[in-house]
Amino acid sequence: MKILLLAGDGIGAEIMVEARRVLDALALPGLTLTEGDVGGSAYKKHGHPLPPETLAKARVADAVLFGAVGDPDCDNLERHLRPEQAILGLRSELGLFANLRPATMFPGLEGMSGLRPEIARQIDVLIVRELNGDVYFGEKGMRTLEDGRRQGYDIMSYAEDEVRRIAHVAFRAAHGRTGRLCSVDKANVLETSQLWRDVVIETHAEYPDVELTHMYVDNAAMQLVKAPGQFDVVVTGNLFGDILSDQASMCVGSIGLLASASLGERQTDYGTFGLYEPIHGSAPDIAGTGKANPMAMILSLAMLLRHSLGLEAEAARIEAAVAKALEDGVRGGDLGGTAGTTEVADAVLARL
Ligand code: NAD
Ligand code: IPM
Ligand code: MN
Repeated sequence: MKILLLAGDGIGAEIMVEARRVLDALALPGLTLTEGDVGGSAYKKHGHPLPPETLAKARVADAVLFGAVGDPDCDNLERHLRPEQAILGLRSELGLFANLRPATMFPGLEGMSGLRPEIARQIDVLIVRELNGDVYFGEKGMRTLEDGRRQGYDIMSYAEDEVRRIAHVAFRAAHGRTGRLCSVDKANVLETSQLWRDVVIETHAEYPDVELTHMYVDNAAMQLVKAPGQFDVVVTGNLFGDILSDQASMCVGSIGLLASASLGERQTDYGTFGLYEPIHGSAPDIAGTGKANPMAMILSLAMLLRHSLGLEAEAARIEAAVAKALEDGVRGGDLGGTAGTTEVADAVLARL
């Protein structure tokens, strides 16, 4: 079983250390770990945020564990050289079109949510975010209009097969949970969304046991804080999913808690090839201070073990250890406490 570790920038490197300690503690037989450069740190070393050798290592791995990329030093580089292009490049080059972002309340954490505890307690949502299309990957550029004004543009589009394959993932996920799927779009304004909605409805015919609803994204943002318990599985496009998942994290209590799996179609000997990462970024404001919460990273490792290596029992053990640490009151700065990155990981390891 081959895992590629890509720590990246900022707190990415700090939380990767802790995920690796958790992986070591499991003492799994037959595991090979390799490392690679990615993001701003790769740019500084190799002149590119996603060097060809990193991509090549990802192609031969069974799974990739990814920290975060993003470096303020690189924010003025030409776009194709910026750190963020590394994660976008990995997602598209590896065909990872289905991004699963679960957001569930941990017992004892209700008081840390941005919502009132009785509302926060309801949250148990799986956001299924399309990851290979949308305005992220359309033609983009800067141009000067005839009258001399500068114009930036990014084309938003979805082809029907792109919508259909993510819809199937979402219907199957809903089937395995409480059977409710909400498709989030902006079909009242965008043609991209009208096609999205049409194709989701067509695909629904194959899943008669799943209850399908539709919601405009602005309303969905409002409903997510008003009554998050109404959502089970949410399926949405790349941009809306990016935004709604950060919002969902604060319904739970901190962005330092939310993990994700990015999956495609490639099967390995043990499961589905995937890339696993926290939903948060490199947090330059706290990088180097030892304050980052490693839980999202550790929970991403759990998702890796489940989806790519078929190790459900080990995944569940890690998730239970994180939940127990939170229940016992272990709190990093993001959760109003004082425990640092290593201390939080120690607490998880002790319970593991
Ligand atoms: P961010 O998620 O890095 O940080 C937002 C806020 O949340 C910050 O105040 C940060 O300190 C806090 N935070 C995030 N993770 C935390 C953790 N584990 N523990 C405690 N606090 C945490 O978002 P941003 O500030 O908008 O972006 C910073 C950089 O990260 C940018 O370059 C951005 O492009 C990049 N980014 C990368 C990814 C990724 O690699 N997948 C995701 C999001 C943002
Ligand atoms: C995320 C991030 C990325 C995204 C950026 C860094 C490209 O915000 O993984 O949520 O927008 O997908
Ligand atoms: Mn994001």
